[in-house]
Amino acid sequence: MRVKNVIEPFVIKINIEEEIINNYNEHIINRLSNMKNLYLNENVYEEMLKEEDKLLYEVYLKTVLEDPGELIQGLTILYPGKVGNEFFMTKGHFHRIFYTSEIYFCLKGRGILLMETTNGNWKAEEMKPGIIIYVPGQWAHRCINIDKTDNLVTFFCTRADSGHDYKLIEQKGFRKLTVDKDNVPIIIDNPKWNKCKNIL
Ligand code: F6R
Ligand code: MN
Repeated sequence: MRVKNVIEPFVIKINIEEEIINNYNEHIINRLSNMKNLYLNENVYEEMLKEEDKLLYEVYLKTVLEDPGELIQGLTILYPGKVGNEFFMTKGHFHRIFYTSEIYFCLKGRGILLMETTNGNWKAEEMKPGIIIYVPGQWAHRCINIDKTDNLVTFFCTRADSGHDYKLIEQKGFRKLTVDKDNVPIIIDNPKWNKCKNIL
């Protein structure tokens, strides 16, 4: 039997009211300025950025050893709002280890989990409290908050070494966007999809 570093069992407590986990060891903050080229309406994006580099989402992570046998867990809090008529969203990514999967468990709010593959498949799943979505390997994934006032709070769990690959999404975008049409969230084709950006 392979002998590797053995870690102690541990417990994570989620405080849903406070939207926090008790023993996170990493905290990631994503602001409007981290989302360059990702929203459709670039003029509105620039105008909003001039006013305020708004906080869009936060991630609290409980990391352990980056070993294929271990898991990483955490909480994502995505705030409500729009850029033009496009709802606030996470960047979205493939995993660096491409075939690794992930579980998303929605705890609070209303959202969409948009997923797509490099060969053109896409899927949108509703997120609301109690819904657990299995994101198989090879599917990019992005959360979108479709509520006007409530935060979208999601617990996730994936292989500890799965990593993030943002490159493709930063260059091409997602094939689909979630926008507000007369107070109804709808999914539309992304007219900017695959119009490669030079992001360097
Ligand atoms: C981990 C994962 C989540 C996201 C988080 C932020 O694999 O899917 O922890 O990293 O919800 O989204 P991104 O990373 O797309 O900014
Ligand atoms: Mn992921």
